[in-house]
Amino acid sequence: MPDTPHTISRRAALAAAAAAAGAGLAAGSALAAPKAPALVHIGERRRFVNKVVLITGATSGIGAAAARMFAAEGARVAFCGRRIERGEEVERQIRAAGGDATYIKADVRVEQEVEAFVEAAARRYGGLDVCFNNAGVTLEKPMQEMTLADWDDVVNTDLRGNFLALKYETPHLIARGGGVVVVTASSNAIATEPKRAAYTAAKRGLVGFVQVAAQELYPHGIRINTLIPGTTDTELVRRVAGMMDAPDAVWEEAAAEWAKTNIAVAHRMAQPEEIAAFALTLASTDFPYMTGAQMVIDGGKTTFA
Ligand SMILES: NC(=O)c1ccc[n+]([C@@H]2O[C@H](COP(=O)([O-])OP(=O)(O)OC[C@H]3O[C@@H](n4cnc5c(N)ncnc54)[C@H](OP(=O)(O)O)[C@@H]3O)[C@@H](O)[C@H]2O)c1
Repeated sequence: MPDTPHTISRRAALAAAAAAAGAGLAAGSALAAPKAPALVHIGERRRFVNKVVLITGATSGIGAAAARMFAAEGARVAFCGRRIERGEEVERQIRAAGGDATYIKADVRVEQEVEAFVEAAARRYGGLDVCFNNAGVTLEKPMQEMTLADWDDVVNTDLRGNFLALKYETPHLIARGGGVVVVTASSNAIATEPKRAAYTAAKRGLVGFVQVAAQELYPHGIRINTLIPGTTDTELVRRVAGMMDAPDAVWEEAAAEWAKTNIAVAHRMAQPEEIAAFALTLASTDFPYMTGAQMVIDGGKTTFA
């Protein structure tokens, strides 16, 4: 079968896009890449004053953007991730902006670390009101080349890590008389591609997991919904494209070029703040009737699925 934008890997497509972008840069691109509009309302609302927000995976990307935005709306934020320097940097940035945040190192694949993180967060701020269970990794590899360790790393982070987080968060939310949980899945839970077996299995599994959790937790006043982002310009995508060491300008051109053909409607990747803004909305008290839902924000990526 010939390669199409949907059958070649994102790594190969982005490498080709990088080359094309290089040519475009030299020649002057005919079609300007669409740009994300500025999110002018960040911090203007104060929906999370007196709320304690826990986030898994906020040392970069969507989680870090959410940590900043929750704090800007008055929340006290406890978050985890494995990279200590990055976690401390996010905490510093939030405090420098006048917010309240605490980074606690934890690996969501390890039960004792998840338990210790959740307990430390609740102790630090006196309970939990909102949990944004967001930590995740991806992998692009044909199934036949995937090792058990590859599979376990993705599934243990993206699926088992969510079970562990919710298991230890729930008693704190119940003690508070209820709360809201937002779980980050992916548009791969709706439409997927070759080489994403582990990621797709984990993210689709999460949708079912959240549906069951919604049924079990609603009587306790806890709502839980799945956030389904499309391709977002974060390290997760840059890493899987093999472009972490590329200069930012090369990455940005390659990403914009790739998005023109691979993101059906918007023709650009989301910025992490755009996805985080939706997470905040889902975590707010604006939609008390919403639970067990799959909330898609993907620039139209899955409209052709
Ligand atoms: N970017 C996209 O296109 C896209 C699309 C759909 C869904 N998503 C989902 O969005 C979520 C956030 O990803 P992102 O795009 O923002 O990428 P990112 O910048 O790589 O962020 C991933 C976060 O998860 C954390 N994490 C990964 N493994 C962990 C572990 N074992 N224990 C604790 N934390 C861990 C990372 O922290 P450490 O590395 O410091 O541990 C980091 O803070 C993920 O669930 C991802 O699957 C992303």
